[in-house]
Amino acid sequence: MRVCVIGTGYVGLVTGVCLAYIGHDVICIDNNEEKLKLMKSGQSPIFEPGLSEIMQAAINSGNIQFSSDMAGGVAHGEILFIAVGTPPLPNGESDTRYVEAVARGIGANLNGGYKVIVNKSTVPIGSGDWVRMIVLDGIVERQKSLVAVGGSSAEEKPPEISAHFDVVSNPEFLREGSAVYDTFNPDRIVLGGNSQRAIAMMKELYAPIVERKFAVDQSLPPVPVLVTDLSSAEMIKYAANAFLATKISFINEVANICDRVGADVTQVAKGIGLDSRIGNKFLQAGIGWGGSCFPKDVSALIHTADDYGYEAQLLKAAVSVNERQRLIALEKLQQALKILKGKTVGLLGLTFKPDTDDLRDAPALNLIEQLNRLGAKVKAYDPIISQTGMRHGLSGVLVETDAERLADGCDALVLVTEWQQFSTLDYAKMAKLMNHAVMIDGRNFLDPETMVRAGFQYVGVGR
Ligand SMILES: NC(=O)c1ccc[n+]([C@@H]2O[C@H](COP(=O)([O-])OP(=O)(O)OC[C@H]3O[C@@H](n4cnc5c(N)ncnc54)[C@H](O)[C@@H]3O)[C@@H](O)[C@H]2O)c1
Repeated sequence: MRVCVIGTGYVGLVTGVCLAYIGHDVICIDNNEEKLKLMKSGQSPIFEPGLSEIMQAAINSGNIQFSSDMAGGVAHGEILFIAVGTPPLPNGESDTRYVEAVARGIGANLNGGYKVIVNKSTVPIGSGDWVRMIVLDGIVERQKSLVAVGGSSAEEKPPEISAHFDVVSNPEFLREGSAVYDTFNPDRIVLGGNSQRAIAMMKELYAPIVERKFAVDQSLPPVPVLVTDLSSAEMIKYAANAFLATKISFINEVANICDRVGADVTQVAKGIGLDSRIGNKFLQAGIGWGGSCFPKDVSALIHTADDYGYEAQLLKAAVSVNERQRLIALEKLQQALKILKGKTVGLLGLTFKPDTDDLRDAPALNLIEQLNRLGAKVKAYDPIISQTGMRHGLSGVLVETDAERLADGCDALVLVTEWQQFSTLDYAKMAKLMNHAVMIDGRNFLDPETMVRAGFQYVGVGR
């Protein structure tokens, strides 16, 4: 099928590349010329395991093009994905201005055949109908501009724009760090809309994925496809992220109580996680959730509830537990080192989770800010950020090129991101390079006994 994906970030690029890889004819549109230059030369502007390889394969097969030409993209696609960012506004509301610009742009360029416009961006509930309205506005504006150019006499009147489209909500559940895997092996596909024609086209688009043709385990039953109304599809995305964020805040709260009563939260998590009603995922206590989705999506849902006269108390509590949790490493550093002024603290990891280069709303950023405020010098080593030289959003931190350079002269280390590489570092050597060998394990990732043997004073979260 002919597809146009507008917005080539973590979601749009992965979606476009994966759809091209499974045989669709895809144009990816972005308005960031720097990104386009990279993509046109076959390079991915983001780090995501496996993405470069399938991007290359898709390019070689001729199934994918990258462009800034909205008109060309809209003309090309039978299915038009909106996959631009929806960052948070200061009041927690979702900033939908990029979605609006794209919807208007689609409207301004629609003409001819039937199109399915897909909201892949995470958008506030009700956005499906709102996008439809903006697209229609775009069509009217174009019609007006054609009239203005064509003059007002009957003979000069420009032809009516024929535009026939439906809007579908298709929320994205991929996780950064395993986005390609998640696209080919999804737990479910959610399609919200009231047009049978549009839903049928979406099912055809995803058929190879639903049938597990590109899955790691092709013997599994087909991927469940949930077809529902627009608002429910939009709510599913928010509810899923709100649930996961709340689950982490829950275990963090339990961890803080464990810290006080002398229980080990890793054991507690194991014990409750074996209950099939609870499950063992998202029960890792640590220094809190972050990233580009959980914080903004939970805030947006709280805001929507507020707009409709409901106070989302549980979600507000999940957020406030998380805000406190993001300072827990600081408290533990103060307990271990007392005065932080003049001390050097090294951060192992910067990104909000492993296997991504994404620093958006990463707990490391809070920590750096607070340590700077208290007069500590901050250094960091992150396998991707140190390698790529990406420093967007980073200040007040010296980024080292390896873990041993990081440890050299530090008064404490804080493990911020559980990168797999951090399980095999030479901690005994690192301890010797430090002024004080204190390890705050912000993700309960390291083995406490091994760390003590390596010469560290080990401090976990709730253990
Ligand atoms: N990142 C994730 O893990 C994830 C997972 C699920 C859902 N989502 C949702 O998907 C959406 C996109 O997220 P993301 O992380 O990919 O964002 P991103 O910021 O990485 O990418 C957005 C892209 O859109 C482009 N863009 C913005 N305005 C444009 C325009 N007018 N025309 C063309 N391109 C334009 C930007 O240049 C950028 O490349 C968000 O709503 C997000 O909440 C993200």
